[in-house]
Amino acid sequence: MLLTIADDYHDLSRQAAQRAADLLKVSPAAAVIVATGETPMGMYRELAALKQRGEVDTSRLRIFQLDEYLGVGDDDARSLYGWMKRSFLDPLEIRAEQVVRLRGDASDPSEECSAFDRAIEETGGLDLAILGLGMNGHLGFNEPPSDHELPSRVVALTPESIGGSARYCGSADAVPRRALTAGMKQLMAAKHSLLLVSGERKQSILKRTLEGAVSPEVPSSYLQRVADATVLADQDAARALDSARG
Ligand code: GLP
Repeated sequence: MLLTIADDYHDLSRQAAQRAADLLKVSPAAAVIVATGETPMGMYRELAALKQRGEVDTSRLRIFQLDEYLGVGDDDARSLYGWMKRSFLDPLEIRAEQVVRLRGDASDPSEECSAFDRAIEETGGLDLAILGLGMNGHLGFNEPPSDHELPSRVVALTPESIGGSARYCGSADAVPRRALTAGMKQLMAAKHSLLLVSGERKQSILKRTLEGAVSPEVPSSYLQRVADATVLADQDAARALDSARG
């Protein structure tokens, strides 16, 4: 695992977009799993600008949804797919048929997760995982405790994640209590991953992710064992790290 410290959020977003663009140049038909959350929004804007300038071709990409609230359909304002569509798919002109979904309103959510894993397997695994870091170390909605072998599945959200999602859903009461998430197994097997971490509030969980024990209690800590994972953190997030102190 490699750590890169960016000057600030803008620099982080620019570097992340450039890394993704470089990879997509080599693998234009890559399978990419895409996070929502606030952190990657700047990266997606930068990627869209690169696409406008003709520097990224998205026409052959295969995109995988990282997570979704259980029971939430596409028309629901809380839909993470809706957020991904507005922030990533539409600006990058990615068509619906290029996307493998985790539908929150699937009639059989467990089967939806198994079909999702089969689709990843059939495509030959993920080439790139674009991830954010939950305040409790979750990746997607792999809530602690989650070990590195867990498949995509339906999970119960922890109180911490419900609190964290309150700002996306209007209030904590409006946050669904369960979610579908891409599995740790699928994420850890991605050929490249980019974990984006920004802001002072992520200092302590970033430190546990990079410098703490590898443990299901901090799912993101498994990235320590992934050779081709890059953690891109801005100075505000990285300040407490031993490596940032030189
Ligand atoms: C959310 C999502 C994750 C996201 C993470 C960080 O709850 N389940 O996919 O990456 O938490 O979110 P943010 O970037 O807003 O801090």
